Amino acid sequence: MDLFNVYPLFDITPVRGEGCYVYDEQGQAYLDFYGGHAVISVGHAHPHYVERIGRQLQALSFYSNSVQNPLQQELADKLGELSGCENYQLFLCNSGAEANENALKMASFHNGRSKVIAFHRAFHGRTSAAVNATHNDKIKAPINTTFEVEFHPWGELEGVEQSLAREDVSVVIIEGIQGIGGIHVPEPAFLEALEQACRRHDTVLILDEIQSGYGRSGRFFGFQYATVEPDLITVAKGMGNGFPMGGVLIHPRFEASYGQLGTTFGGNHLACMAGIAVLDILKSEQLLENARVMGDYLMQAFKGMKKINEVRGRGLMIGLQFDFAVAPLRKHLLYEEKVFTGSAADPNTLRLLPPLTLGRQEADRFLERFERSLRHKKALAT
Ligand SMILES: Cc1ncc(COP(=O)(O)O)c(C=O)c1O
Repeated sequence: MDLFNVYPLFDITPVRGEGCYVYDEQGQAYLDFYGGHAVISVGHAHPHYVERIGRQLQALSFYSNSVQNPLQQELADKLGELSGCENYQLFLCNSGAEANENALKMASFHNGRSKVIAFHRAFHGRTSAAVNATHNDKIKAPINTTFEVEFHPWGELEGVEQSLAREDVSVVIIEGIQGIGGIHVPEPAFLEALEQACRRHDTVLILDEIQSGYGRSGRFFGFQYATVEPDLITVAKGMGNGFPMGGVLIHPRFEASYGQLGTTFGGNHLACMAGIAVLDILKSEQLLENARVMGDYLMQAFKGMKKINEVRGRGLMIGLQFDFAVAPLRKHLLYEEKVFTGSAADPNTLRLLPPLTLGRQEADRFLERFERSLRHKKALAT
């Protein structure tokens, strides 16, 4: 049977990972400055993570959501403590898109409306409602476009307020820091005004922290650089460090009822243990602080490089803007310098999302290889 051919692939086969490196079949090391789409938070094959999941696998990997599973509560307690969102409730699912799908549904249950406001360049996933709230018509099928979505310019409140005043908007969804859109950081004042406007019109505010959450920005959530209390916060990616899992943090003003949301696999024993191990490591190794320090260090270095037009981001979520397409640069970095980096919707943006365990030596190694690539004609070919 052939694989359904939807992914353009690099000709590299990673078979092993350790810390900030992955290794191919020949044992060649690659410095991972992308974390496989921003997924690797605590590093590849972290010994604590491996040990906890291994032990859980031997004990019990799965039972359904019809029995007691104390690991779910342990995960919720640890997530509450580290994020500062102790008063929220947690619904566990399996991916980022599914987290947003459930959040959009919760919002619509709550106020009985169906219109959605999202922002230019937004990406919220590929399931039915989530993809409709994504600013990319090419990935929407007719079956996805069954409710109205308004896309507003990033950071502009006026149009949003006018729409909200019509009292028919169910939800505003916004990324804590835009990821695939090219690493765009919202002004704290914008998020705060957006929250106030939503409150005034009984519109639900969803903060999509799927890429910017779990310490990547240097705080637990990207929105925590502002003073806001979102109704719903969605998480995935770094939450499981590669184990597929997602979640919705739900404000106490929402009351659960039996059967309102549900999933077979969400919150299973193995996933919970992966999530607990990630939170333990984030805390014990102070990785939020590390993301902040190493992010500042890298961004300072980038700001001194003439070929870079703009440096955006927070912590270890960094976007570099060039005045040329970065595809050849990424290829050069990968094949010649053995470094993984990420692309963005804007072809001139390079996206960097290394593990939050990144050390000074690895950062320096990256800078050295990156500067060497930038001097190379082939890397800059347009
Ligand atoms: C901000 C954001 N939301 C949602 C998603 C969808 O997550 P998943 O691919 O796990 O469904 C992504 C994935 O890249 C994302 O970056």
